[in-house]
Amino acid sequence: MFSTLLAAAILFFTDDLAAAKVVVESDIPCKPFHEIYASGRELCEKMWDGSFVYETNRSRAYTMWFFDKDNPNDEVTRNLGLSPPSVCHLRYLHKDTPGPEPDTFSECHPWKDHSCCTEDTVSSVQKLKESYGPEWHWDRCGPLTPACERFFVQEACFYECEPNAGLFRKYPDSDYNSSDPSHNRWQMSGMPIWSDFCDAWHRACHNDKFCAHDDGNFFSCAAKYQETATTGPTEGLTVGIVFGCLIIVALIGVLGFLVYRERTGQPMFKPLEQQVS
Ligand SMILES: *[C@@H]1O[C@H](CO)[C@@H](O)[C@H](O)[C@H]1NC(C)=O
Ligand SMILES: *[C@@H]1O[C@H](CO)[C@@H](O)[C@H](O)[C@H]1NC(C)=O
Repeated sequence: MFSTLLAAAILFFTDDLAAAKVVVESDIPCKPFHEIYASGRELCEKMWDGSFVYETNRSRAYTMWFFDKDNPNDEVTRNLGLSPPSVCHLRYLHKDTPGPEPDTFSECHPWKDHSCCTEDTVSSVQKLKESYGPEWHWDRCGPLTPACERFFVQEACFYECEPNAGLFRKYPDSDYNSSDPSHNRWQMSGMPIWSDFCDAWHRACHNDKFCAHDDGNFFSCAAKYQETATTGPTEGLTVGIVFGCLIIVALIGVLGFLVYRERTGQPMFKPLEQQVS
């Protein structure tokens, strides 16, 4: 009886762990980009939860990448009647003020002379992808083609390194309330992005797969992933452990009772001959 129950407990444990893994994968619906986003506009605006807006007027639109010696985004800021910031307003891995980086700074090279990121945080594609935790990995629906992944790298560099991005904080200093838990200093809102950049991103990723949850909102996808990765499996695991412990306690109790009966001369299981006689 003991070994049967033990086997049942072990089966319960392994079964539970297997079930937890399935939850994580099936809860993230993956679809090709062209099925999630109808256009470059949808990609830029939906994927980033309103951080960016699609802008066709080049003189009012920022670009997430450039080859010019001087950052063309400074001119865009001036065209919008603002001044390029002298501090890094976004707060994630950012520096306090924009400045030059060493010669080894290459992954996010456009910002080498004047960046809000340090070489250390943007040293490689891998580093950029893993900076925000597993829920923000852009290849959770399978590896992306290099052409598609490049745009995610550019966006990550832009977010970390571009001083002008700090002008579009969701909770700018004027509204920011540090004791309000819904406020933060990392989120962006409504930054106009050059339409051609968004359209090119949409073309490059056409057949790649991405999380389709909530119309391909990367923020909801990350939250969903975290929910299933933390509450899902660990909750299941906790239940499994508690249940397993209960079974073990019950077994010890039964065993103790049998020993007690045996010692007090009233054994539960008498030898066969004795029972018959
Ligand atoms: C584009 O934006 C600039 C700067 O705000 C403005 O002067 C210009 O009229 C706009 N062009 C169009 C076609 O709307
Ligand atoms: C800041 O947030 C806290 C907590 O939500 C709130 O009680 C307080 O009134 C807020 N302060 C301002 C100035 O809005």
